[in-house]
Amino acid sequence: MSNGSLDLNFRVAVADDAVELQPFVRSAYRGESSRKGWTTEADLLADERIDVEGLKEKITTPDSAVLLATDDAGVLVACCEVAKSADGVGYFGMFAVDPDRQGGGLGRRVLEYAEGYCSRVWGVTKMEMSVIWTREELISWYVRRGYKKTGVQKPFPYAELVNGVALRDDLYFEVMEKDLTADPVVSSTA
Ligand SMILES: CC(C)(COP(=O)(O)OP(=O)(O)OC[C@H]1O[C@@H](n2cnc3c(N)ncnc32)[C@H](O)[C@@H]1OP(=O)(O)O)[C@@H](O)C(=O)NCCC(=O)NCCS
Repeated sequence: MSNGSLDLNFRVAVADDAVELQPFVRSAYRGESSRKGWTTEADLLADERIDVEGLKEKITTPDSAVLLATDDAGVLVACCEVAKSADGVGYFGMFAVDPDRQGGGLGRRVLEYAEGYCSRVWGVTKMEMSVIWTREELISWYVRRGYKKTGVQKPFPYAELVNGVALRDDLYFEVMEKDLTADPVVSSTA
């Protein structure tokens, strides 16, 4: 589907958004609903990805924000988490687009907006994110957006799964990064 001309409105989530956001994130990452999209973790993990309390924590933590993208009717179409680490690097995560609207350019626009947000609000010049190593199609997508594998690997937090189990025992994260000064961020007009 093409979302190129869809008007997006971005805002920073508040704690009350967590209840609507939880099933949205779960539906993009997990279970049958997520298989409608082109990339999913449904074959890797059978948990809920995050619970409402976890979302509220992300939303209220200092130097961190959950960004929501809605369409003109106010319907939530995408979200992501951004944060500034102690060493001033921007973090990008919990990236989700409505599975019915994936593959039409929304993800690209949300990532650009998130990079612009981190640059504008926190002055970060480098972004970092983590992808499960098996997700080659997604890693390629980030490479096309200017990210590079750092060679750093992080353990998968098996002990923190929410209401469910992992379907594989060999998961870990590949850390990827992007130098925002080498590929200047387009100031997003949403
Ligand atoms: C990752 C995600 C946010 C991307 O959102 P999106 O709106 O689909 O992204 P876009 O439409 O901008 O990009 C789609 C890309 O997929 C590519 N694509 C489409 N079908 C594909 C397929 N079957 N295999 C591989 N790539 C495919 C398109 O070519 C396009 O890439 P390009 O812009 O470089 O050409 C979305 O797929 C999602 O919510 N996934 C589930 C949650 C998740 O995995 N989050 C990321 C965790 S790090």
